[in-house]
Amino acid sequence: MKSTFKTMIFLSMAATLGLLSASVSAADANDTTLSAAGDAVKGKRVFNRCRACHNLTATARTRIGPNLDNLFGRKAGAADGFKYSKALQDATFDWSEAALDSWLSQPRKFLPGNKMAFPGLRKEQDRKDLMAYLREATVETAE
Ligand code: HEC
Repeated sequence: MKSTFKTMIFLSMAATLGLLSASVSAADANDTTLSAAGDAVKGKRVFNRCRACHNLTATARTRIGPNLDNLFGRKAGAADGFKYSKALQDATFDWSEAALDSWLSQPRKFLPGNKMAFPGLRKEQDRKDLMAYLREATVETAE
């Protein structure tokens, strides 16, 4: 019990420092712990801070940032036709809630050299709410 707790502390510290960015596994993409603690209606409002740069469907016009359709489980830096920074081109992880949480809290620290001009979402609850919204709004189903 005690060591599990220590491991958790270590993991959250490592995630904050970006140490885990290269080792997020596909299984993590199905982990909904953070979005489950969020409110999608509020999250839609939080997304207003992303909206100028990101669309959420594959067919929408690309803005300043890549479209975020099917984000969870998607390889980082892999939206068709988007010219990513070298940092994202070279990234080897898939987007999970844990990865997105670190990215959104401190984009620069999580992946140095990225070109997303966004200071970060400081409030943990804002990130959870946003994730609840993104879980709904980024899913694209085949017609
Ligand atoms: C000022 C424009 C801007 C804002 C605001 C912004 N982004 Fe971005 N975002 C970008 C750019 C540009 C990139 C590509 C960065 C790179 O190539 O290094 C990016 C990349 C991303 C990625 C990586 C996508 C991939 O394909 O790997 C995610 C996820 C993301 N942004 C989410 C968000 C969310 C969520 C918000 C709001 C909280 C947000 N961004 C706000 C411009 C923005």
